[in-house]
Amino acid sequence: MILAEHLPPGWTVDILASDVSPAMLARAREGRYGQAEMNRGLPAAMLVKHFTHSGADWEISPHLRKMVRIRHLNLAQPFPELPTFDVVLLRNVLIYFDICTRRDVLRRTAEVTAADGYLMLGGPETTLDQDEHWVREPMGSIVVHRPVPPDMIAEPARDHSIASVALTGVDA
Ligand SMILES: C[S@@+](CC[C@H](N)C(=O)[O-])C[C@H]1O[C@@H](n2cnc3c(N)ncnc32)[C@H](O)[C@@H]1O
Repeated sequence: MILAEHLPPGWTVDILASDVSPAMLARAREGRYGQAEMNRGLPAAMLVKHFTHSGADWEISPHLRKMVRIRHLNLAQPFPELPTFDVVLLRNVLIYFDICTRRDVLRRTAEVTAADGYLMLGGPETTLDQDEHWVREPMGSIVVHRPVPPDMIAEPARDHSIASVALTGVDA
């Protein structure tokens, strides 16, 4: 909705919406929202402009629907072929993963984000700024994450307290 309202003339937008859950994908494809969902801060002007009343629900307008492609994606697995994104909204999903998987998702997400692109995480996920692939950048009242250029990412430090030793034919 924000893009539809604010993109300059001549721009097009391609939004990929993904989830691992077939039920959530089916819900997204329906594009129907209950009154309680619409009451979470959507201005009335946007409601009447972009939705039509359908029974007890609100149905999203065709012009918004055609901006969005919906597909199954398990973030915890290697990504399939994906385009390069200008903006990635990854809100409240990393919380499901252990720390290794989070770091892996963040690394792979950096690979599919434009060099001048943005990543937005959910509030509880801001501590993940420890990841070396992203740098925090305050923007107004929020914090966004920008990809670190690949040549600026330090090699992981080697742990010299552990030597690699092969013991062969050791007599007692
Ligand atoms: C708490 S909801 C957040 C939804 C939305 N991003 C938001 O902020 O409102 C978390 C979503 O992550 C999805 N999810 C969980 N594990 C996932 C995975 N491995 N890959 C992709 N999506 C996943 C769940 O199915 C659920 O729809």
